[in-house]
Amino acid sequence: MLRVLGIESSCDETACAVVALEGDDPRALRIVSDVVHTQLDVHADYGGVVPELASRAHIQHIQPLMQAALRNADMRADELDAVAVTRGPGLIGALIVGVSAAQGLAHAIGKPLLPIHHMEGHLMSPFLMARDESQVAAMEFPFVALLVSGGHTLLVHARAFGDYRLLGQTRDDAVGEAFDKGARLLGLGYPGGPAVAALAEGGDVAAVKFPRVLLDKTRFDFSFSGLKTALRTHVLKHEAQMLEETYRRDVAASYQEAIVDTLAIKAVSACRHVGATRLMIAGGVGANARLREKLDVACREAGIVLYRPPIRLCTDNGAMIGAAGAVRLARGLFDQHAPVNPIPRWPIDEL
Ligand code: KG4
Ligand code: ZN
Repeated sequence: MLRVLGIESSCDETACAVVALEGDDPRALRIVSDVVHTQLDVHADYGGVVPELASRAHIQHIQPLMQAALRNADMRADELDAVAVTRGPGLIGALIVGVSAAQGLAHAIGKPLLPIHHMEGHLMSPFLMARDESQVAAMEFPFVALLVSGGHTLLVHARAFGDYRLLGQTRDDAVGEAFDKGARLLGLGYPGGPAVAALAEGGDVAAVKFPRVLLDKTRFDFSFSGLKTALRTHVLKHEAQMLEETYRRDVAASYQEAIVDTLAIKAVSACRHVGATRLMIAGGVGANARLREKLDVACREAGIVLYRPPIRLCTDNGAMIGAAGAVRLARGLFDQHAPVNPIPRWPIDEL
């Protein structure tokens, strides 16, 4: 049995976890311990993640979290088989903190250091669902992944472990940003996603016709900046009405609907395009109830099995990094002499 410490610090979560793997099948992955520190309060006043503040918070929290992950797993550091860490993509200063801490620990215990692609980590999250959390059969390759957060908006065809093809990504704003910027226009706080979702509850989704930017039907890129502009124009044009609570509800509901429609349509057509019968969703926006509802219906109609890990696994965590590391270790899919310098921009199909 392999036991790997996973360390994640690419954005605004400092996270560490111990993951165990018997054999080399991702379906056998188990979370032994899992601790996360979220920096929401650090960035809330700024309406988005401030890189320098993120790095400082990571520095403060990384060592105590590493210790807590080991303590909760009832393990000493030298009982680990390897240390896995997010190498990229992400904020450079934030990545440096995690990679340095991981390097130090791996060196101290004389075990391999496994540099992990953050998105490969997200792809592992459905394998980490406890069996009673998944109402469906255990996850298997191949599948399509919709990864949606404040920093990323991707559709990936995961053909096998380590074999990923990018089907589409955003050409401008990430979908989480579309929620965050939309929230600001609606006079709501940060993070915008939950705030927009709460205001949208009970609103009329058809009140305002916002655009669904689908671009080319055989490609799966996204664009959300036009939608944001449409919202800005609408808000300015209807200033007086925007003071009424019911009207704001309708606008929020219509705006959210345009976003989730676009995501659901693209995700299902991407599955059809590559012949995938499994779709997984991860990232903070995966918490959106309306998106979950839409995907449920669209997938059922298309004969696709939908994997929606619980929120704690959808958002950034150390377990997903430990999971990718454990499978790489078990299969010998790593080069112990490769450089581990952080890579802020790192396309997933260059893995
Ligand atoms: O994955 P995540 O926690 O952090 C990173 O971006 O790495 O995602 C955060 C994003 C934010 O933009 C937030 O507004 C969005 O996820 N979000 C949501 C919801 N909860 C969080 N968006 C829509 N609906 C939600 N319920
Ligand atoms: Zn992420």
